[in-house]
Amino acid sequence: MRNKIRIGIIGCGAMGSRIALACQGELSDSFELTALCDLDAGRIDELNHSLKKSVEALSIDELISRSDLVVEASSARVSADIVRGCIESGKACLVMSVGGLLGKEELLAKAAEKGVRIYVPSGALCGVDALKAASAGKIESVTLTTRKPPKGLAGAPYLERNNIDIMAIRKETIVFEGSAEEAVKAFPANVNVSAVLSLAGIGAGKTRVRIVSSPEYTRNIHEVEITGDAGRIITRTENVPSKANPKTSALAIYSAIATLDGIAKSVRIGT
Ligand SMILES: NC(=O)c1ccc[n+]([C@@H]2O[C@H](COP(=O)([O-])OP(=O)(O)OC[C@H]3O[C@@H](n4cnc5c(N)ncnc54)[C@H](O)[C@@H]3O)[C@@H](O)[C@H]2O)c1
Repeated sequence: MRNKIRIGIIGCGAMGSRIALACQGELSDSFELTALCDLDAGRIDELNHSLKKSVEALSIDELISRSDLVVEASSARVSADIVRGCIESGKACLVMSVGGLLGKEELLAKAAEKGVRIYVPSGALCGVDALKAASAGKIESVTLTTRKPPKGLAGAPYLERNNIDIMAIRKETIVFEGSAEEAVKAFPANVNVSAVLSLAGIGAGKTRVRIVSSPEYTRNIHEVEITGDAGRIITRTENVPSKANPKTSALAIYSAIATLDGIAKSVRIGT
C-alpha cells in the first residue's frame, strides 16, 4: 500500500476547517492530516475539537517541513511567501488565496524548474477547463462578472478607500470595473477567481473584471465570457455562500477537496 500523503493546513477558517474534516473523512484513504496553523489559536482549538483525531499546531515553517503537501487557506497577504517556502523545501502546495500570486508569477516558473507541484483549484467558478483548452489556440478576451450580496464584499480595501458604504446600497450597482490585476488588490478576499482565470488564460493585465452588488442577491454569482478562435464560451455559476464565511462559496471549498482527491487518483477526468 502507498504511504498516505501528509497534509498541513495553514488557515483554519471556513475553507481550511472543511478541508481538515475531509482529510479525516472522505479523503482519509490517501491523506493524513498532520498539522494546523492559524494566527488565531482559538480557531485551531475549535477545529481540533471537531476533528476525529486532533493534530499539532505548528508555525508556518515547521508545518511546511513536516508535510508532504501544504494547503494554503489563509490570506492573499501571505500566500506567495507560503508558496516560496514550499518551493524552497521541495513540498507540494495547494493555494486558495490565489490573488496573492498575481505579479509573482516567477514563483510558478521557479516551482516548475525545481519540479515542485503547485495546485490552484478552479475555486467557485466553472469554465477554467474550457479556458485551458481554448488557450491551445488564440484567446481574444476573458471577462468575469461577479455578483455578490453586500455582505460578501464588505470590508474590501477598495470600498474603504473610496468611502463606499456597500451595506447602504438599495439597488443593483456596478461597484468596480477594471483588470484582474487591479481587482485582486481592490478586493483581495472576494475575487480570487479572477486570479485563477488570469493564470489559466491571458494574464492579469488583460483579464477584465466587473463586480456588481445588490441587496436582492442571495448567491455569489460568477459569469465568464471567453472569446477566441475556438469560439465563444459563456459560463454562469450561482454559488451558495459558505455559512462560516459569506465571502467564500461552498463550491470553492469543494473544489479544493476535489483537487486533493484528483491528486490521489490515477485516472484524471476533465481538462
Ligand atoms: N480560490 C478561490 O476560489 C477562493 C474562494 C474563496 C476563498 N478563497 C480564499 O481562501 C482563503 C481562505 O478562505 P476562508 O473562507 O477560509 O477565509 P476565513 O477568513 O474563513 O479563514 C482564514 C483563516 O486564515 C487565518 N489566517 C489569516 N492570515 C494568516 C496567516 N498569516 N497565518 C496563519 N493563518 C492566517 C485567519 O485567522 C482565519 O482563521 C482566503 O484568502 C480567501 O480569500 C479563495
